[in-house]
Amino acid sequence: MSASPAGLSLDEKPPQSAPPTPVIRFLKGHVLLGQCAVNPGETIVEHAEACGISLPTNCTSGTCGTCMVSLILGEVPLPEELPPGLDDFLVEEGARLGCIGKPRGDVDIDIRPPI
Ligand code: FES
Repeated sequence: MSASPAGLSLDEKPPQSAPPTPVIRFLKGHVLLGQCAVNPGETIVEHAEACGISLPTNCTSGTCGTCMVSLILGEVPLPEELPPGLDDFLVEEGARLGCIGKPRGDVDIDIRPPI
């Protein structure tokens, strides 16, 4: 029986690997502050807390804009009707609200608002 360079015989199948877990990364400019696995259903603020990063919040309902961050990469879906804490021009610049925004898949977030 011959073995492959990885040590597997040709009759053996390689072990199945689990699909990669999506990751949320928190940055400030080019500086990586922390990262953790995306937990579906949790907000950006909850993910930040899990990473040991404190994001400012106030209303926690999408009204005040205190928790505004910038979406650099990935997807954080918006509600059909924008909440009072967001405007169209801010969304175009990548703004998301940490208290209500829920990441989907791999996401990079700059903890600073876009403007
Ligand atoms: S804390 Fe007020 S909009 Fe998020």
